[in-house]
Amino acid sequence: MAQIGKKNIAIISSASVRPRNRDVDYPFRQDSDFYYLTGFNEPDALAVFIPERKEGEYILFCREFDKKKALWEGAHAGLEGATLVYEADDSFPITDVADILPGLLENKGKVFYPMGRDSELDHNLLEWLTHIRSQSRTGVTAPGELVSLEHILHEMRLFKSAAEIQLMKRAAEVSAKGHVSAMLKCQPGMFEYQVESELIYSFMQLGLRAVAYPSIVAGGKNACILHYTENDAKLKRGDLLLIDAGAECDHYAADITRTFPVSGRFSPAQKQLYQLVLDAQLAAIEQIKPGLPWNLAHETAVEVITSGLVKLGLLKGRVPKLIKDEKYKQFFMHRIGHWLGMDVHDVGDYKVDGEWRTLEPGMVLTIEPGLYIPLDCKTVDKKWQGIGIRIEDDVLVTKNGYEVLTNGVPKTIDEIESIMQEV
Ligand code: GLY
Ligand code: MN
Ligand code: MN
Repeated sequence: MAQIGKKNIAIISSASVRPRNRDVDYPFRQDSDFYYLTGFNEPDALAVFIPERKEGEYILFCREFDKKKALWEGAHAGLEGATLVYEADDSFPITDVADILPGLLENKGKVFYPMGRDSELDHNLLEWLTHIRSQSRTGVTAPGELVSLEHILHEMRLFKSAAEIQLMKRAAEVSAKGHVSAMLKCQPGMFEYQVESELIYSFMQLGLRAVAYPSIVAGGKNACILHYTENDAKLKRGDLLLIDAGAECDHYAADITRTFPVSGRFSPAQKQLYQLVLDAQLAAIEQIKPGLPWNLAHETAVEVITSGLVKLGLLKGRVPKLIKDEKYKQFFMHRIGHWLGMDVHDVGDYKVDGEWRTLEPGMVLTIEPGLYIPLDCKTVDKKWQGIGIRIEDDVLVTKNGYEVLTNGVPKTIDEIESIMQEV
């Protein structure tokens, strides 16, 4: 509210329930911005913030408590819960929003809201503003500016509080255990989705019901498809398995990738490429420190990977020239990582005034270099073809450097081979 400023107002709506088919809905997931501000986990809600409003600054519109609804669909806070439990200063039925909100907008200067994200809110807001303008002869004025709320909010979300870090650590620890369990259960002949079921089983057994994003469980050449989610192929002895999966803890994500041999033993070629990705990842993580530019980790990984690919014979030429010509991009085509938080690809700008922003304590990001050698890549030796490897950890920027939140899953060749021999 300090950032919105006096005389102004902010409005944000909850997520909606989306139909899957006939009477069945998709599982409800609250809008991250709305949840960040309210902690309110219901659809059909709208939060309004009015700095220095005498009757209270935070207003929550939500569903009224309905006994029949409670019987069929379960608990909901109702107007009383909105004030008592969620600490709104005032609460009103969502069905009355069109009657009440225009009055709250009267004589305000700017309206902060997530523009273009909820077409119903976009439409209603313009209607309410038109309505107020039509009353101008009574002396009321309509707000003159619509401003993006995301700009303020996403900068806040980029810096995690101690409480948020607790949730992210839990998501990370549980996700790491799920990956270990998948490593231990994996056998040649299983289907990818059977390994996926081990991850979900672990997450739920450990108390986290939702995944933060659809799991990627990609055996052999499927690992070269960056967003592979079919997860329906049979795992073959001799192939690697790439798993990119994370649990969500109270709306905060973990995002881990590990790549390991289906049989428990890397082949010599797999070992060489794997060690290169790991070297790039470890070198990139060393570049996470307050004051260093966010891009340095990426550039470091690019250098390690390009010179490694030259040593292994997958690229030919001088390293600086290969980097300048972006030759590594045929095998490492994505960036080193992204902000992590309530959304797996979390909010927050990566550049400020055209420059890569510098890291600051409280930011959380992923470091996830990869190498993906297409099966039909004729420019490389056959032994490399069809290998896809990514190693991804979640890293918190601390006062003096970094803390890896996802160290609970092994990633060196020796560690992986030895835990896979234990079963
Ligand atoms: N799981 C999505 C990503 O790694 O970015
Ligand atoms: Mn991932
Ligand atoms: Mn990621």
